[in-house]
Amino acid sequence: MKFTLLSASVISALALLPGAHAWGKEGHAIVATIAELHLDPTVLPTLCSILNPSRPGGSCSLASVASWADEIRNRMKWSGPMHYANAVADHPPQLCLFPGAKGWEGDVNVLKGIRNTTDLLSQWVQQGSDLSDPIASEALKFLIHFAGDMHMPFHLVGRARGANDIFVKWGNRKVKLHGMWDGNLVDRAIETTPSDWEQQLGSEIEHHLHGDHYDPLIRKVLVQGINQTWAGEVQSWVQCPAASSALPRGDDQTVLQSQREASDTDDGSVCPWHWASPIHQLTCDWVWPKQLEQPPYNDHQGPLLELDTDEYGGKITREWVVEKLLTMGGIRLASILNLIFTQQKGN
Ligand code: ADE
Ligand code: ZN
Ligand code: ZN
Repeated sequence: MKFTLLSASVISALALLPGAHAWGKEGHAIVATIAELHLDPTVLPTLCSILNPSRPGGSCSLASVASWADEIRNRMKWSGPMHYANAVADHPPQLCLFPGAKGWEGDVNVLKGIRNTTDLLSQWVQQGSDLSDPIASEALKFLIHFAGDMHMPFHLVGRARGANDIFVKWGNRKVKLHGMWDGNLVDRAIETTPSDWEQQLGSEIEHHLHGDHYDPLIRKVLVQGINQTWAGEVQSWVQCPAASSALPRGDDQTVLQSQREASDTDDGSVCPWHWASPIHQLTCDWVWPKQLEQPPYNDHQGPLLELDTDEYGGKITREWVVEKLLTMGGIRLASILNLIFTQQKGN
């Protein structure tokens, strides 16, 4: 009996560890909270009714369901490949293809996941918003989660299973390069947020914060990021190329193929491929450490590369790289949800 109880608690403790297929729980909660803070006033009540149909009019938080898609991965095996987008011929940093002429691995990916859940929820609104339809709640929880995954650079790269098979050092600890981005770098961004941000902001913002240790990071990105440093570019984060410029131009086969892939998932207002492309490019530029390609680090038997350095970890902290990716995820998620849930029936 004791043994069973102990194993049960060990198993549930393991379930709380960040999964290998997502920003950790914190990253997803941060994206969802930033989105919640940018919703149209009428939209959150609708989302809460979808998530808790037995308590219509009740309150809820998007952060609390942001990791549901990871929790059900084992039960819903088919959903695994929906957490990332791997291009067949891509091989950063040497070859940067998103997706290039050979296209994507498999039939589903995170970009298509965002398109499908967006379309599903739009249809649900068009068809009269039936709260007894369980599909809406699942689609919403997947969408909240995938908006986070799409902003994690290694979820856009197939090489070494998105660097899940690459080991490096983070402050002398052996970690997976993928997991370092999912968890350690988010933890670092939270830890290095100055304690000034423990001060509360206005009640309209604080109402959406629930005493989590990442609250200071949220206050910091709202005030210093969105309203100051990134103020001039935030609008461009949610823009999509006009439908006509997404049409194939010229006769370059690679361009043709990428744009055909883009048109699968992108339209003039929700364009996951267009949004994800510069994040994929980051992996080719510097997120995949170039030293890993050369001796002694290119050898499985060789030493592990330390990334908690001024050049790598320090750059990420100084330039708010993780804060910006999480914020872009939140702003884009809010934009998609506002679009779906403020459209008029029949439009
Ligand atoms: N499994 C295979 N490829 C992956 C990726 N890019 N991200 C997460 N898990 C994966
Ligand atoms: Zn995920
Ligand atoms: Zn991951």
